[in-house]
This record gives sequence, C-alpha cells and structure tokens, in this order.
Amino acid sequence: MSRVTPDQLREMKTRGERIAMLTAYDYPTAQILDAAGLHILLVGDSMGMVVLGHPTTLPVTLDDIIRHTQAVVRGTEHALIVGDLPFGSFQVSTEETMRAAVRIMKEAAPQAVKLEGGRRVAASVRALTEAGIPVMGHVGLTPQSVNVTGGFKVQGKTERAARLLLDDVAALEDAGAFAVVLELVPAELARLVTERTSIPTIGIGAGPYCDGEVQVVHDIMGLFPDFTPRHTRRFAELGTAMREAAQAYVTEVRERTFPGAAQSAKMSAEVIAALRAEDAQAAASDASSQEESPVDGQAEGQADGYAPPKPIRK
Ligand code: KIV
Repeated sequence: MSRVTPDQLREMKTRGERIAMLTAYDYPTAQILDAAGLHILLVGDSMGMVVLGHPTTLPVTLDDIIRHTQAVVRGTEHALIVGDLPFGSFQVSTEETMRAAVRIMKEAAPQAVKLEGGRRVAASVRALTEAGIPVMGHVGLTPQSVNVTGGFKVQGKTERAARLLLDDVAALEDAGAFAVVLELVPAELARLVTERTSIPTIGIGAGPYCDGEVQVVHDIMGLFPDFTPRHTRRFAELGTAMREAAQAYVTEVRERTFPGAAQSAKMSAEVIAALRAEDAQAAASDASSQEESPVDGQAEGQADGYAPPKPIRK
C-alpha cells in the first residue's frame, strides 16, 4: 500500500474528510498506529517530555529526531511520516534549517518535516519546499517558545493576536507549507483559519472545526502519568494495564509459576543424566576430602575458617 501524500491530504480537506494524526516515536507503536489507519504520524519533539522525561521539549536534539524517525519509518507503510525540527536546528538561519532538514530526510527518510513559527520562518519554509522537502507549519502555542509564552497557554485570544495568527498561516501557505498545526487556539479562531486557508489545518487544543486532529499518543493512551492536558482524552489506560501486567509478572517470578514448561526448552535425558553424574561424583570426592581435614571449615590455606563457595554447575 502506498503512503498518504500531501496532495491526498489537500483533497481530503476539499472533500471535508477529517485527517487523523498522532505522534509516534518507536517501531512497535508506529506499526500499531499505521495498521489502525492513521493518515499522518509525527515524530514530534514532544518525545522530550513523554519519552525522555524532560520538563520541556527544548533539550531534544536533531540526532534524537533522526534516530526515532528511522524507527517510525521502518514500522510503517501507509502513514505520511513527519520529522520535527527540534529547538536550535532552525532558529539560526535558513542555511542551518536546510542542513537540519536535509539530514532528517537523508538519514531517516520521512515524507516531510515540521517546524514551529509563522512569518518568522516563512523564508526557510520557502527554501525547503523549493528544495523538494514538504513542510508542515505549526502556529498558536509553539512549545519551543515556552519561555516566552510563559507556559502552555491558549494563544490568539485578543483581536491583535488573532490577526497575527491569521497572517502567520497565510505566510506559511504562501511559502509552500502543505499543512499547518494549530495548537491551543480558540475553536472559533481555528474555524476561521480553516475557512481562509487552502491548506489542511490540524488542530490540537483547537476545537472541532479544523481539517484534522493531532494528539500526543502517550496522552490518549494513558501512558503519561505526570499530567493530562485539558485538550486531550484518554482513549485507553495503557499505563494502568502495564502496571498491572508488571505486578502480575513480579508475582509469578517470585512464586515460580513463570516461566513454566511452555516457555522452557527440552534436552535429551541422557545428556542431562551424564552431567548430573559428574556433579554426584564431585560431591562424593568433596565429602571424602573433608573427612580427612583436621578442623571443619579450616582446610589448607583457609586458616580464618572462610570457605569459598563451591562452583555451581549449569
Ligand atoms: O512535538 C509534538 O508532538 C507536536 C504536536 C503537539 C503537534 O508538535
């Protein structure tokens, strides 16, 4: 089956078909999500928080994104894979942005990259798309700027902020972005953006009127215990299921009910009998040498009474 393309996403917008996108960071999760029919998988820098345990996305490196994107690409056949440009990889210049995006495309082979920002990054978006790299934009709350926004807060609430956001999306569309993430913006503003732009809008905390929705997979699967953002919903409690499974494992290991016969390999009775005969012989010769030693536990060279453990035969 061939992969979803940017053109198909645009056609979905035209037809009013919703686009389903999630994050993914590893091979088995990517396999499961691909089989479930996700249109887009984002190897997001949110991995910094939900996978690596940092308080923000800022520490994520280009190498992190490349390594995890490789795994997600290997695990998928259908979804369009997007590699996120991490903090520091595109802020300095268009040249550095190009170098970072080229590394992701060459070393991990996703179908697109994403970067945060609107007008500020439009020149870079244009350079990437002209170089043949499809780009997804990201406006509203841009978590890499959390130190400027002062937290994970809804953006675009005032008329001025809303107008700037509309300008940002227009600049990204004009620069050639094939889609744009709208993060934490009021639902009615997201609706207006979606009506005004020809490229698909993908919301997260942006209400129900975008062309598609993206969520962090750990949030919807109940795999991130630190906090649950208001804009998400748990579709499963995998964290609870994993804890219960791990507790059952601990119990079975302790009680010697796991592993059992089904998880064990057999060998010929003659071979094991021959090996056990050696042990029996060694034990018999140990016993006879102890009978000859003068003080129990004080064999030659063990004046302090310390007896080294006998070798265990496996
Ligand atoms: O990194 C990420 O997961 C994201 C999504 C929240 C859109 O940018």
